[in-house]
Amino acid sequence: MNILFRFKKYLRYLQKAKTKYYLHSPFVYQFYLNVLEGEKDSQLQSIVKLREKQRSNNALLKAEDFGTGNSLSKTVADIERKVTVRHKYGVLLYRLVNYFKPQNILEIGTSIGLSSSYMALANANASLISLEGSNEIAETAKQNYASLQIKNVEVVTGNFNETLSSALQQLSSVDLVFFDGNHTKAATLNYFYQCLSKSTENSIFVFDDIYWSKDMSEAWEDIKQDTRVRLTIDVYQFGICFFSKEKLAKENFVLLY
Ligand SMILES: C[S@@+](CC[C@H](N)C(=O)[O-])C[C@H]1O[C@@H](n2cnc3c(N)ncnc32)[C@H](O)[C@@H]1O
Repeated sequence: MNILFRFKKYLRYLQKAKTKYYLHSPFVYQFYLNVLEGEKDSQLQSIVKLREKQRSNNALLKAEDFGTGNSLSKTVADIERKVTVRHKYGVLLYRLVNYFKPQNILEIGTSIGLSSSYMALANANASLISLEGSNEIAETAKQNYASLQIKNVEVVTGNFNETLSSALQQLSSVDLVFFDGNHTKAATLNYFYQCLSKSTENSIFVFDDIYWSKDMSEAWEDIKQDTRVRLTIDVYQFGICFFSKEKLAKENFVLLY
């Protein structure tokens, strides 16, 4: 059911997606050049190597199901393949941090620490807080940061229902938020509204899996229509929001990536 839904949405995305040759907004054109195209960076090789290692790691980790309260075991290899951000989109996160230089980054959904590694390596001066509910998975994330010599990520363990509000209290503002856990409409909108309380003109919100289900696609529609959001960029896997009322018109873009 969801697979057919995603396929239709992907075809629609391909029909609508623009390349840089059709962009009139200078902001979006620069985004295309610097974030979607960007340059190759040798730092990314260290994450590629780490990913290869994880793919042959059959250690079992306890993964909680926060809806039912049950838990099941998954291998690290399975988590790398099926749960974490694909390298292509990890590179997008890396370039986003590299180009816009957000200082306070919040990630909702750490898993084994891959998406946060792309962001942390992009700017060692940024500080990241990443939230994860499963203890064993969070421990693996910490080991992965250590293997990449990443020192600017703090992992907070616990249910997002408790950890998100306390993480937000600690921060004066959020410059970038990566929403990548609990992909339901209600939870996504709830986290979005909480994070808005600490957003600024320069904040960037990135939502993963915006077409994963009808529910998530409805959440993305609500987010785009929110009057506090100015410009949005849809690259199919991610929906990205910008907030500057001064510099940006209220417009929604679909870009080929
Ligand atoms: C999609 S994964 C994150 C992947 C990661 N961002 C990456 O790309 O490397 C989502 C994570 O959120 C955690 N999670 C889901 N719902 C949660 C909740 N309500 N509270 C805490 N953690 C939760 C899961 O345990 C899972 O590890």
